[in-house]
Amino acid sequence: MRPDYDISWQQADAPEASVSVSGEATGMSHLVVPGEIDTSHGLILYLENICVSFDGFRALNDLSLSIKTDELRCIIGPNGAGKTTMMDVITGKTRPDSGRAFLGQTLDLTRLDEPAIAQAGVGRKFQKPTVFEHHSVWENLELACAGDKRWFRALWAVLTPTIKRRVEEVLALTHLEHQAHVRAGQLSHGQKQRLEIGMLLMQQPQLLLLDEPAAGMTDEETAQLAELLNRLRGHCSMMVVEHDMAFVAALAGEAGLVTVMAEGRVLAEGTLDAVQRDERVIESYLGR
Ligand SMILES: Nc1ncnc2c1ncn2[C@@H]1O[C@H](COP(=O)(O)OP(=O)(O)OP(=O)(O)O)[C@@H](O)[C@H]1O
Ligand SMILES: [Mg+2]
Repeated sequence: MRPDYDISWQQADAPEASVSVSGEATGMSHLVVPGEIDTSHGLILYLENICVSFDGFRALNDLSLSIKTDELRCIIGPNGAGKTTMMDVITGKTRPDSGRAFLGQTLDLTRLDEPAIAQAGVGRKFQKPTVFEHHSVWENLELACAGDKRWFRALWAVLTPTIKRRVEEVLALTHLEHQAHVRAGQLSHGQKQRLEIGMLLMQQPQLLLLDEPAAGMTDEETAQLAELLNRLRGHCSMMVVEHDMAFVAALAGEAGLVTVMAEGRVLAEGTLDAVQRDERVIESYLGR
């Protein structure tokens, strides 16, 4: 096996197009430039007439939905509405039987596999935090950059100052500065959730998918999570599935769009106030 410090091999194996080191210390400067997403028409995500069947049961039934660049979209809807299945389609975990799914204008999600979609800039947060319990918060963030990418290991020495800067940015964003050297296993549930979001941010996603991120949190932790997601506006577009209406209200505000899903499709879309008054929504979800 070739050693990690063999510079000639490192340079030869590193794919030039996918790696760039930014010398700028600005905001969320790009450490790794994945395939550029073409958002010239203003959309980060476009789903059209998506159908997914499981043994004849239509989990997604002509689902059409789009999200604007830098939007934070909340998705609500009853159990079994297809919200998680939709995220499975976006991340390539589930292939739709029919329909179109695009990241930006040009990346056809139905033709990319899960690693390629993640590499293209889609980050996904599952409900249960998956942090490295025996490593510190700082190490978790560093490790999140690496994944199993061989070229990353190869370029580690060159990237270190940039990574350090990014870890500091992400610690500040997630309000975990004071826990930087605490082992992740010792964090509270809410802090672990924020760390996991931080780990996703290290990979600089352009679209972040969060499936019930507030589940199991105290009211205080939920409020802190809402603050964090509101701080991320402008850094990436987000799709947040949640049942907690106070949390949704904190994210959507008065003007943000909320999508209500039911029976595998969009039932209603509008401000939280508007959808909460929608008779169909009250009948299928809120009024139950
Ligand atoms: N792998 C699968 N095999 C069979 N049926 C499935 C599978 N995944 C999901 N389903 C079914 O598809 C429907 C949609 O499920 P999904 O998990 O997407 O709903 P959801 O809106 O996320 O619900 P919840 O709010 O409970 O998380 C459900 O009826 C579910 O039982
Ligand atoms: Mg679900």
